[in-house]
Amino acid sequence: MKIAVGADHAGYLLKDRLRETLARLGHEVADFGTNGPDSVDYPDFARAVGTAVARGQADLGLLVCGTGVGMAISANKVHGVRAACCNNQYNAGLARAHNNANVLTLGAREVAPEHAEIILETFLGTPFAGGRHERRIQKISDLEHALD
Ligand code: RB5
Repeated sequence: MKIAVGADHAGYLLKDRLRETLARLGHEVADFGTNGPDSVDYPDFARAVGTAVARGQADLGLLVCGTGVGMAISANKVHGVRAACCNNQYNAGLARAHNNANVLTLGAREVAPEHAEIILETFLGTPFAGGRHERRIQKISDLEHALD
């Protein structure tokens, strides 16, 4: 798969490590930065990764900040993105199986790198279950027009 990745200053080291993990697993990676410790604004990277996924330029996205929360809130503003902050393996599996999440967000200040790799592999390896969840995913999409 093609995976778009991004991070802020709190997450770039973990993002870089997971980029290597993705390459080792045979995925193509598009890295939108950041690539150093200078303070940056996480919505900028959520925008880059989120739009890449929403436009179909990437199959899935990975965003890393301090908690994973700011990245999830930001990426979910992009229509077509279903970003899930999964700082544990259980949520990573269900975010794919039930919510058809297309962006994983992680908190580098909360999750050990080895654990983050397991979470990422679970996210990538779990298919959407479909069935009754299809209807709910459609209702999530409908919310993008809730104020129209
Ligand atoms: C940066 O200090 C921090 O606010 C950011 O990485 C993230 O945790 C926001 O949700």
